[in-house]
Amino acid sequence: MGTMDRIKHIGVFTSGGDAPGMNAAIRAVVRTAHFYGLQVSGILEGYNGLVQNNIRPLGTRDVSNIIQRGGTILRSARSKEFMTVEGRCAAKRTMDLHGIDALIAIGGDGTFRGAQAFMVEHGVRMVGITGTIDNDMGGTDTTIGFDTATNTAMELVDRIRDTASSHDRLFFVEVMGRSSGAIAMYCGIAAGAEFVMVPERKQGIEELISALERTEKSKSSVIVIVAEGDEEGGAYEVARKVKERYAHYETRVSVLGHVQRGGNPTVADRMLASRSGVAAVEALLAGQAGVMVGQVNGRMVLTSFSEVLSGTSPRNHAELDRILAILST
Ligand code: F6P
Repeated sequence: MGTMDRIKHIGVFTSGGDAPGMNAAIRAVVRTAHFYGLQVSGILEGYNGLVQNNIRPLGTRDVSNIIQRGGTILRSARSKEFMTVEGRCAAKRTMDLHGIDALIAIGGDGTFRGAQAFMVEHGVRMVGITGTIDNDMGGTDTTIGFDTATNTAMELVDRIRDTASSHDRLFFVEVMGRSSGAIAMYCGIAAGAEFVMVPERKQGIEELISALERTEKSKSSVIVIVAEGDEEGGAYEVARKVKERYAHYETRVSVLGHVQRGGNPTVADRMLASRSGVAAVEALLAGQAGVMVGQVNGRMVLTSFSEVLSGTSPRNHAELDRILAILST
């Protein structure tokens, strides 16, 4: 990289669904950038802030007292305008106006799809940081927010177990994940659920019913975790289908919803966010672009956006299915 290309001013933003630990990542990016003498701008509401020129400078003290907070101080959005060619042209004009010469995007796969298009059309230098509770991305073992969300879901299922076992009830608990069963699987195993339904694997009502028949008589309560995107429908729909066949079950449904997205990030998420922020700025300074910072086998690694987007996530549901079946007997 020649002197002309040296990065002096970076922009940082959070995009897509917020995730606990995004603030810790923003803090790490801002402080690392200042450590290396760079100027930093915070872009508000994801790509919308670039399209609409909604930007403010971020100094090291602007990110004080945020490492422990859920949500994102920069706010987030799934920008419709940025999905258009005109929107991306406007975004580039904003970057030029402020003299921003590189971007760090914190988000999920939708965020990196946008980044990819922006880089191809405008040659913008971008590095990504994982930020989604769904843990459904290639190039990393886990994503910022997943550990916190699964801990929240697990704690809530523990509470449901207390009441379920006091009344001999069958509970259907819906957790987040439109196309990802990672939260369902982890929280199911960690909270000792009897059955888990995920979008990645077709488990019909028949399979669920035979599992229920096996366990129902010997247990004082049964908990079925349903990922919101399961092909049989959400928890209400699955409960209805079971009840249709087995009217004698006393069933209850609980949809955990957005409580899973909030709350103070866990140590694991704060660590991942802090390490990712440092690695992202250092990657840009080393001349990298078009890559996402992930954590694989405990180490920070860079993977190209195209590989992240085309790659299947490394989650091994077959192994998790197997241990769930053994442990829920
Ligand atoms: O991608 C994160 C996530 O929480 C998914 O698990 C869920 O399907 C979706 O976002 C919900 O989106 P929204 O907050 O827009 O309702």
